[in-house]
Amino acid sequence: MPTARLTIDPHFRIGPVHRRVFGGFVEHLGRHVYDGIYEPGHPTADADGFRADVIELVKELGVSTIRYPGGNFVSGFRWEDSVGPRAERPRRLDLAWHSTETNEVGLHEFADWLDKVGSDLMLAVNLGTRGTLEALDLLEYANITGGTALSQRRIDNGRTDAFGVKMWCLGNEMDGPWQLGHRSADDYGKLASRTAKAMRQLDPSVELVACGSSSAHMPTFGEWERVVLSHTYDDVDYISCHAYYEEKDGDLGSFLASAVDMDRFIETVVATADHVKAVLGSEKNVNISFDEWNVWYISRFQNVDKIEGIDNWPVAPRLLEDVYSVADAVVFGNLLISLIKHADRVTSASLAQLVNVIAPIMTEPGGPAWRQATFFPFSITSRLAQGEALELKLDAPTYTTREYGEVPIVDAVATHDPETDRTAVFLVNRSQDEAVTLTVDIATLGARTVLESHTLADDDVYAKNTLEEPERVAPKPNDSVRVEDSELTITLPPVSWTALSLG
Ligand code: AHR
Repeated sequence: MPTARLTIDPHFRIGPVHRRVFGGFVEHLGRHVYDGIYEPGHPTADADGFRADVIELVKELGVSTIRYPGGNFVSGFRWEDSVGPRAERPRRLDLAWHSTETNEVGLHEFADWLDKVGSDLMLAVNLGTRGTLEALDLLEYANITGGTALSQRRIDNGRTDAFGVKMWCLGNEMDGPWQLGHRSADDYGKLASRTAKAMRQLDPSVELVACGSSSAHMPTFGEWERVVLSHTYDDVDYISCHAYYEEKDGDLGSFLASAVDMDRFIETVVATADHVKAVLGSEKNVNISFDEWNVWYISRFQNVDKIEGIDNWPVAPRLLEDVYSVADAVVFGNLLISLIKHADRVTSASLAQLVNVIAPIMTEPGGPAWRQATFFPFSITSRLAQGEALELKLDAPTYTTREYGEVPIVDAVATHDPETDRTAVFLVNRSQDEAVTLTVDIATLGARTVLESHTLADDDVYAKNTLEEPERVAPKPNDSVRVEDSELTITLPPVSWTALSLG
């Protein structure tokens, strides 16, 4: 059995783990909003038409800020359509997903839902088909207490208090040729800078995110960030990163190492942002909002799910309803490890998405809601990763991947909360056929007991939770874990994700 060794020292801090790193993303896409979070006819629906079973699962997931309403959807969205009396709201074509948007759920209803799940709102403005003025209008509607036309309209529409939205995305994936209103880095950078300055004139407390690349594999990657930040560096707080991973051509070895790609992506964007900082002689850092990340079988969407036809614009069609396996969840857990490893610069992130659409939570109309395999690494990490992220010393054997070359079999991160004196360790074993015995040197932590251990693994790495078998996959306590003197040992099964809480 291969062995690996890890040293944890609470003095080696990377930075605080910001709660915003456990953010989510709700887009008006497929059955996410309609037949997902909102289903007035459902037996568990509350007075506002929201499914109570979904609300409970979202709370259990532990999501902080939720990005809304898109995604690609936002680049064709007119926010005014989604407020005011429901009967008067227009039905619109959603060009991004070839669907009909009824606007039955809009800004007010979504904010009400957020109050129920206990999460904060992060809004994206449309810089695809709209511009600075519409962004200002939305900001006035959302954040001005009263005494102006648009704030009064919000009050008339039933919300006396301002929404007080802090985080704002300046458009979505403007580097992507698929994006409505796609622009060059130069054009987008100028528009984003103008819009950011105007938004800050209205509300200086907003935190703004400029669009980075839609993936590290875009042909414009790197140069896009440099040019956009050259225009916007003084105006924004964040540059975004988006990344989706899938197993391609049966290459499970590379897929399991997806977090290596995420590590490199983050480090390259940080280097680019810091280059612009140096050129401008700026004092501040621009951090990363990793506001779309997940496992997504995009090729399946491109080949099967796509809706076409001039007279075919369905409401809430089944789109992007990926069903996740144990292997997917192990990669997913590893992506969270990567985000936490970069806690000093990744200070906000949004899991894309939340319900039905590439989601940890699935629902059936009139039927149950259940947890996908990916639900568990998110809920457990969000609950246990508290305090400071720690720099670890890890010695592990390597294996060779087609995509990323030589990579370690084990990946890990730890957090330490000085207030509770609890330490959490998150681990993956990427080996497809061998368990790994891991020894962890915890001498500097002092006396420790294992408060919790959770391992997600299965003899069938493609096992999934489904409507028929909603509890097929779940993490189990790891009975192999032992603490003796200043060493902890644990066996990590092949293709597994593990979380430990030490107190
Ligand atoms: O999350 C699905 C889509 O992925 C989003 O709408 C878009 O921003 C990205 O390409």
